[in-house]
Amino acid sequence: MIDARAPEGVAVTNALLAVKGLSIGIIGSKGRRTPVVDNVSFEIASGGTLGLVGESGSGKSMMCRALVGTLGRHGAELTGGSIRLEGEDLSNASESVWRRVRGRRVAYVPQSSLAGLNPVLSIGKQLTSLTRVAMADDGQSPRARARELLEMVEIPRVGSVMHERPYQLSGGMRQRVVIAGALARSPSLLIADEPTTALDVRVQSKILDLLRRLREQLGMSLMLVSHDLAVVEEVCDSIVVLYAGAVMEAGRQDLIRERARHPYTAGLVAAANMELAGGFEPIPGEAPSVGAWPAGCRFWPRCGHSLQVGDGKPHPSCCEGAQPQPVVIEGRRTACLFAELMIKNAAGAQSVAAQRSEGET
Ligand SMILES: Nc1ncnc2c1ncn2[C@@H]1O[C@H](COP(=O)(O)OP(=O)(O)O)[C@@H](O)[C@H]1O
Ligand code: SF4
Ligand SMILES: [Mg+2]
Repeated sequence: MIDARAPEGVAVTNALLAVKGLSIGIIGSKGRRTPVVDNVSFEIASGGTLGLVGESGSGKSMMCRALVGTLGRHGAELTGGSIRLEGEDLSNASESVWRRVRGRRVAYVPQSSLAGLNPVLSIGKQLTSLTRVAMADDGQSPRARARELLEMVEIPRVGSVMHERPYQLSGGMRQRVVIAGALARSPSLLIADEPTTALDVRVQSKILDLLRRLREQLGMSLMLVSHDLAVVEEVCDSIVVLYAGAVMEAGRQDLIRERARHPYTAGLVAAANMELAGGFEPIPGEAPSVGAWPAGCRFWPRCGHSLQVGDGKPHPSCCEGAQPQPVVIEGRRTACLFAELMIKNAAGAQSVAAQRSEGET
């Protein structure tokens, strides 16, 4: 069994954003705080792409709000940990500091931003109001900058789209407009929260292509948030898997995809593979609600691996104490008490298979 108290790692040396042990609580009456994000750590390299993935309700949007200093507007606050952006500690930043950061250094495309476009104003007016605030130093007019942004997000017929209202555009085009708006102040980090969830699969992959190209062209970092592992792995170099507010597994995309070591990640990978094959097989059971997280590993009520190691019953170590903390194992961070055993079993199964195939030849 691995030591759940061991320090977690896999640090990025040129981190643009470093989130360490971040905890968020929903503000209740009489000073009560209900944990919604719990001791989450990750880093995003300058120019890097990180995918934050987890089922609905796992705390992804809360995490994003913490990174742009808007938790208070959503009835929540930081209860621990730190956020460092380009070395600057923003954990206790005032609203005036966040105003300098938001949009300019970190831009956020919220989950509901498609609905957030003003239905009565033209695209040109809406974007110009953003570019006027951003007012380019090179003397470019806000309207010219708005057109440039629309070109950047590959909107066709920019001249006429400037005069159109959101309802005259398809969902994919509206999403491009929203992304254009987020880029108005040339941020170093773009956070896109479920940017493709409302779109059909064909449009979805075009938006992901666009995000990938924009990241390369503009040299910014990208944090892509989705409930869908297939979406984040298409774009991101590294992945953080969140479940009930905690990191289950985090590391390089290929390691997570091809050699998931946490039973929850393995379930997500299996579900994504089934979907690729045209099927649908979600992980059985439901994620616990905020305020009703079980003791021990929060995944135990759904964990087949716990049943295996517990001889048909959830292993007692899984169901008591605190959520296991991620530890570095095989180059990624995994928060499962039995990850090492699983690796040994997988290696054992591989060597049995190899011996069998040798015997057959
Ligand atoms: N102001 C609030 N009061 C109570 N619960 C909230 C509040 N905001 C969010 N939640 C709950 O917090 C959990 C995490 O929310 P969220 O970050 O939006 O999850 P995700 O983006 O992963 O779907 C959800 O279960 C949600 O119902
Ligand atoms: S600690 Fe136990 S319940 Fe949690 S993922 Fe590992 S085996 Fe499953
Ligand atoms: Mg969300």
